[in-house]
Amino acid sequence: MTNNTGTSFRLDNEVAVVTGGAAGLGRAMADVLAGQGAHTVVLDIDAEGASKAASEIESSGGSAEAQALDVLDEAAVDETISDIAKRHGHIDVLVNNAGIAQRVPATEMPRDVWERVMGINATGVFLCARSAARHMISQGTRGRIVNIASIMGFSGGIYPNVAYNTSKGAVVNMTRALAVEWAPHGIRVNAVGPTYVRTNLAEPLFANPETYEEIKWFTPMGKEAQPADIAYGVLFLASHESKMITGHTLPVDGGFLSW
Ligand SMILES: NC(=O)c1ccc[n+]([C@@H]2O[C@H](COP(=O)([O-])OP(=O)(O)OC[C@H]3O[C@@H](n4cnc5c(N)ncnc54)[C@H](O)[C@@H]3O)[C@@H](O)[C@H]2O)c1
Repeated sequence: MTNNTGTSFRLDNEVAVVTGGAAGLGRAMADVLAGQGAHTVVLDIDAEGASKAASEIESSGGSAEAQALDVLDEAAVDETISDIAKRHGHIDVLVNNAGIAQRVPATEMPRDVWERVMGINATGVFLCARSAARHMISQGTRGRIVNIASIMGFSGGIYPNVAYNTSKGAVVNMTRALAVEWAPHGIRVNAVGPTYVRTNLAEPLFANPETYEEIKWFTPMGKEAQPADIAYGVLFLASHESKMITGHTLPVDGGFLSW
């Protein structure tokens, strides 16, 4: 049960990179991937938070390191990913988790807010995927990329959030396009589509009793997800057990998309 050849979801001797891994869902993903034996690289625009996450993983017996990275900084993305690949000799898993939400009614949406949300949530995913895939292709290993989309990648949403929902729809289809393009190189590209989880990003909705009740009402299972629920979906797609799955977005949604 401790090898990475097709049993037990283990990631021993592998390097897993998680963007936005300092907090929220990314932090849970970093914990789970490290718990499965991967050397986990926490990348985040929040340098201090990333270092704290890596040292907490190390304290609980995992292997981790942290680097500051803004996924919108193209040169820094290439430099950081190359540095990781060079130091470790390989990058096996990339989780494109960094993301933001700016809930603004569409008619009041300033262009700069639209561009920042689309930039971090869609362009940032592409820049990191492109950079990692270049190394995965040259390594010749079975690379896996897991993008974090959202139930809002499949839905117009229940609250005004046009830039976010558009960016997540882009992630869903980018996942398909990259999966097709990189399948001949042995790279699998999948995504997870979380429902609502109480993190900094979604806190305004949870802090308001009315919207919190609505979230529960709109979710057949009647509750929000926990960060670990999302992280286990990521683990499945990052593991060798999902070796025949690519181009797929796995909703972890308590039935939200099944109405
Ligand atoms: N929380 C939810 O309800 C929910 C639902 C569906 C999808 N998601 C998605 O899950 C992902 C994680 O969200 P979360 O809820 O954990 O949010 P969060 O705000 O708790 O954490 C996001 C992390 O990303 C980092 N980050 C932000 N901009 C960055 C940048 N430019 N470069 C690098 N790092 C950056 C932040 O510093 C933070 O550590 C996002 O892609 C989000 O869209 C969240």
